[in-house]
Amino acid sequence: MTDSELRQRADKVVPGGMYGHLNAAIFAPGYPQFFERGDGCRQWDVDGREYIDFMCSWGPVVLGHRHPEVEAAAAAQLAKGDCLNGPGAVMVELAELLVDTVPSADWAMFSKNGTDATTQALMVARAATGRNKVLMAHGAYHGADPWCTPSLAGTTPSERADLVEFAYNSLAGLEEAAATVEGEVAAIIVTPFKHDSFEDQELVEPEFARGARALADRLGAALVIDDVRAGFRIDLRGSWEPYGVRPDLTAWSKAMANGYPIAAVTGTDALRGPAQTLYSTGSFWFSAVAMAAAKATIETLRDTNGIAAMEKAGSQLREGLYAQARSHGFTVKQTGPVTIPWLSFEGDADLSVAMHWSSACLRHGVYIHPWHNWFMSAAHTEADVARALEGTDAAFAETRAHLG
Ligand SMILES: Cc1ncc(COP(=O)(O)O)c(C=O)c1O
Repeated sequence: MTDSELRQRADKVVPGGMYGHLNAAIFAPGYPQFFERGDGCRQWDVDGREYIDFMCSWGPVVLGHRHPEVEAAAAAQLAKGDCLNGPGAVMVELAELLVDTVPSADWAMFSKNGTDATTQALMVARAATGRNKVLMAHGAYHGADPWCTPSLAGTTPSERADLVEFAYNSLAGLEEAAATVEGEVAAIIVTPFKHDSFEDQELVEPEFARGARALADRLGAALVIDDVRAGFRIDLRGSWEPYGVRPDLTAWSKAMANGYPIAAVTGTDALRGPAQTLYSTGSFWFSAVAMAAAKATIETLRDTNGIAAMEKAGSQLREGLYAQARSHGFTVKQTGPVTIPWLSFEGDADLSVAMHWSSACLRHGVYIHPWHNWFMSAAHTEADVARALEGTDAAFAETRAHLG
């Protein structure tokens, strides 16, 4: 069954054929919708085309597809049972591992998706403070529930009424936002760096991170780091740990289990009491297989220094792309951490150059994204990145020829 046949069939039984952020129709031309398999840093679409994969399934695949240790841990748990009347022993082991790994974590609660974790973190903050308002950066993505959805279709304004926005990295803006709802702030929720789609990424200013911590303390509100996207690719201890800034609550998901479905909230002792008062649960939240996969993923990242491997591969990619862009007469910007990279073309406000280049990359076996950040994995070797750079070079050449 080809990609185009599957799209036609899907169109009849799935609204729009495909919806949400994985809808390939909204990327650049030529992107496949359906995939057959993945292995290491490669994926194959249903038409048999092979790609060196720099999206890593939009973040989850951090060690490479079908990583042997993760697969073995998941298979061993599956042989015993996955969805039982209660969690397996592995839930306790995983919580202990998170508490040992993450300095701001005295406890962990589990769920399935990043949205579950960000929502649950805000519930803990509200339960702790008895307040409603949440300060959130303008344009930040915290998930797809009505309170945080980027599209307003199917939601009501009241679901977002307690959000007060500020500009990322502006401490003055954050303080002004807080002043408008004095005495009512339950939480400040913030991503570890600005990784909004369609624009250059922005690392956090250390002064902003420290200022957000101090403001949360002054307000008696919780500082929530949404580490769903960046978690396990910057610092295993938490993405603001290098700045010496510790949150009260952290939301985790994506890379936590190398593609198995799991999310977590970790928090401090002070919030343990409020956390245990929540009614926040789901039929599949305590399934043991994803927990076993998470434990194996975090241990492997720790024991093999997976983040250093991603940094090496990401730096090689970044340097290679800068050199190629220059040689083809393009001025590009590469932003964000090298483990979560993105490239934009100067003067390309409508992204037409990015669209052309990413479609060309695809034809040359390199899967990147024109308007969303990419993800490195620990499976990207020097040889893989070198091979990918051959494809990106050909894509720059074709884009230059197209533009004249
Ligand atoms: C920063 C951030 N928070 C929350 C989410 C929501 O995660 P999920 O799609 O697993 O619900 C995402 C997803 O991309 C994210 O990037």
